[in-house]
Amino acid sequence: MDVSRALTQIIRHGRTIEWVRANRLQWLSTPLHQQLLYGTLRHYLSLEGLVASHLKKPLKAKDQDIKHLLLVGAYQLLHTQIAAHAAINESVSATKTLGRTWAKGLVNAILRNIQRQSQSGPLPAADPRLEHPDWMADKLIDQYPDRAAELMAANGQRAPMSLRINTCVTSTQDYKNQLEAADIGYTEGPWPESLILDHPQPASDLPGWSRGECAVQDLAAQSAGQIMMQLLRGNTYEQGALRILDACAAPGGKLFHLKETLTAAGLKHQLYALDNKAKRLDDIALIGERLGHRTHFQQPTLISTERQEMIAEDSVVLGCADAGKSPIPFAESFDAILIDAPCSGSGTIRRNPDIRLLLTPDTLQQLPLQQHRLLQNLWQHVKPGGNLVYATCSVFAEENDQVIHSFLVKNKDAQVAPLRLDLDLGSPTQYGLQLLPTNALTDGFYYCALSKMPHLASAS
Ligand SMILES: C[S@@+](CC[C@H](N)C(=O)[O-])C[C@H]1O[C@@H](n2cnc3c(N)ncnc32)[C@H](O)[C@@H]1O
Repeated sequence: MDVSRALTQIIRHGRTIEWVRANRLQWLSTPLHQQLLYGTLRHYLSLEGLVASHLKKPLKAKDQDIKHLLLVGAYQLLHTQIAAHAAINESVSATKTLGRTWAKGLVNAILRNIQRQSQSGPLPAADPRLEHPDWMADKLIDQYPDRAAELMAANGQRAPMSLRINTCVTSTQDYKNQLEAADIGYTEGPWPESLILDHPQPASDLPGWSRGECAVQDLAAQSAGQIMMQLLRGNTYEQGALRILDACAAPGGKLFHLKETLTAAGLKHQLYALDNKAKRLDDIALIGERLGHRTHFQQPTLISTERQEMIAEDSVVLGCADAGKSPIPFAESFDAILIDAPCSGSGTIRRNPDIRLLLTPDTLQQLPLQQHRLLQNLWQHVKPGGNLVYATCSVFAEENDQVIHSFLVKNKDAQVAPLRLDLDLGSPTQYGLQLLPTNALTDGFYYCALSKMPHLASAS
């Protein structure tokens, strides 16, 4: 019942799984509840079609909670080992808890029909295309003619759990020893600080979690740190600390990874982080605290540049502001800026199956305007000779190469910097690198690195 409530919040009220987790965690109180919510969302569209085919007339919009009860029930019958009688009885009795006893007979009859149908022979193998809205499937086929089927199938898989070892606190070898002592299976990731667990598990049960010895971070997201380091290492900067801005930083995954890799490489640095949501900045501070990274909230009062720089060499400086507008609350210019832009999240559908149901073509049309605004504004804060990395967790060209294309047309002082991941994690696009969840180890992500030419003025 709690799972169908969560579904109704997501589908009717446009909430995300993240919202359910943050505001109604009691609905996902057991691993089974979570499995049922994620599983039903992954198969929502095909289950919806199946349930509709058993209804004499469609349910009214106000009865969506009954529809969701049926979908969760059908999911259990078709995609889990839960005993059919238990799934059906549970769904029928939930009508009472929901105050919808009139639907008791209907729920019982439809689920029994579905059970009979499933027993009379194997159901045709589900087509992953049918688990995507038509507009999305068409777009994927259009943009990935050879890989769309594989990509849509990957969107229905469970994502692996990858760890980033916090090398400021422990060594990877020590951490591996702890995993082995706790009998937790893993394989080594592509970088010294990355490990992939054989089986996902609650992060807080991992060894050393409360001591901040590791963070959960997909390998595609960990690539940001590798790419930033490649650019920072390869550039010759003036003497002194590197000044780096993470412009869309919350909840701080890439920010703290960067902190750890800069520290490990012995590069003197000042790290600044912006986000336009104050609550999410608090999350950065909390996560930083667990990882043992000091943070400092930038105060609106003016302080001298020297004082600000002293603080930044000691702590990650956090500021709340719209990164698409200047002035920004920190220094005027940076050696490197990371924009992990707000995006459709279409590369993370296997982790967030709600995206498939909530994303609309209209939203996808609006996002590039916002992404372009961020890029355009932040470009003026890159030092001549410095770099900017633009990233999204999207697989759609509208948010990726097309944003970069229109940016390059307007900004003659920008040039694409070659990207090398040393690993077979992504494929080159016209301007950047596209990672796809067809590689089971990574979410879908896009990266493009830009360099600012030293002596040309921007035409913007
Ligand atoms: C994809 S998330 C960043 C994830 C983060 N980099 C990480 O690795 O944990 C995008 C972030 O951008 C923030 N954001 C959205 N619009 C923004 C804006 N105009 N200025 C600054 N931050 C913004 C959102 O609040 C969100 O936290």
